[in-house]
Amino acid sequence: MRRCGQASNRNDRSCTKLSCHVAECFDTLWFVTDVRLREWRPEDASAITVMLTDPEVAKWSHMAQIGTERWVAQEREGRRGPSMAVCGPDDELLGKVALRLPGRASPATTCRAIWPDDHPVGELSYWVLPHARGRGVATAAAIAMLDLARDMDEVRSVVLDIEPDNLASIRVAERLGATRREPSRVEHDRHGVLRTLAVFIVSV
Ligand SMILES: CC(C)(COP(=O)(O)OP(=O)(O)OC[C@H]1O[C@@H](n2cnc3c(N)ncnc32)[C@H](O)[C@@H]1OP(=O)(O)O)[C@@H](O)C(=O)NCCC(=O)NCCS
Repeated sequence: MRRCGQASNRNDRSCTKLSCHVAECFDTLWFVTDVRLREWRPEDASAITVMLTDPEVAKWSHMAQIGTERWVAQEREGRRGPSMAVCGPDDELLGKVALRLPGRASPATTCRAIWPDDHPVGELSYWVLPHARGRGVATAAAIAMLDLARDMDEVRSVVLDIEPDNLASIRVAERLGATRREPSRVEHDRHGVLRTLAVFIVSV
């Protein structure tokens, strides 16, 4: 069974670039999740206020500093690359997935774990609203974004920069077929705390 988007004909829209049925992608997943990626809307700001206090998001995102309305406005501009709202089939907002393009991503894209053949390297980032976690949303959204990256043709590979104790995110990376590279890197988070980050990379 092919992975969604991989080895697919670009004219084959049975799995479109902005939607993905996870059950088509992996034989072994026990969950079935339909997600759709769409542009952010100003009214999404109220639905994501819970993320202002998410400990993982607070480490790296300036959302708490600027507030959700400005954050949504910035994501809509997409200056660093496409940022999409992740929705269920009924348009319920479930999370966010973004592709940061080369030169507009974190230092993970140029760290020592990246090999010359990987370039140009983008970066994937995602979060899921707490009530929607644990049912395959992040995995499905990331697969859909990788499909979009493939169509954009601006990156050869994508890095995922993950703290070693973020087991859920590491499982997402593994589900995407990403491989862990050495060395890990260290970076201060937004609060000045020095953190180790595992570098995962997946070809697009
Ligand atoms: C990381 C995150 C995006 C995962 O989203 P999700 O939609 O719950 O992930 P999925 O349902 O696709 O789960 C992916 C895998 O992680 C596993 N998983 C989920 N929560 C887990 C947890 N707390 N501990 C260990 N594994 C976990 C799932 O079982 C699944 O593995 P499996 O396929 O082997 O069963 C979500 O927890 C989140 O938003 N966290 C805060 C923000 C964040 O950490 N972003 C990533 C920064 S690198």
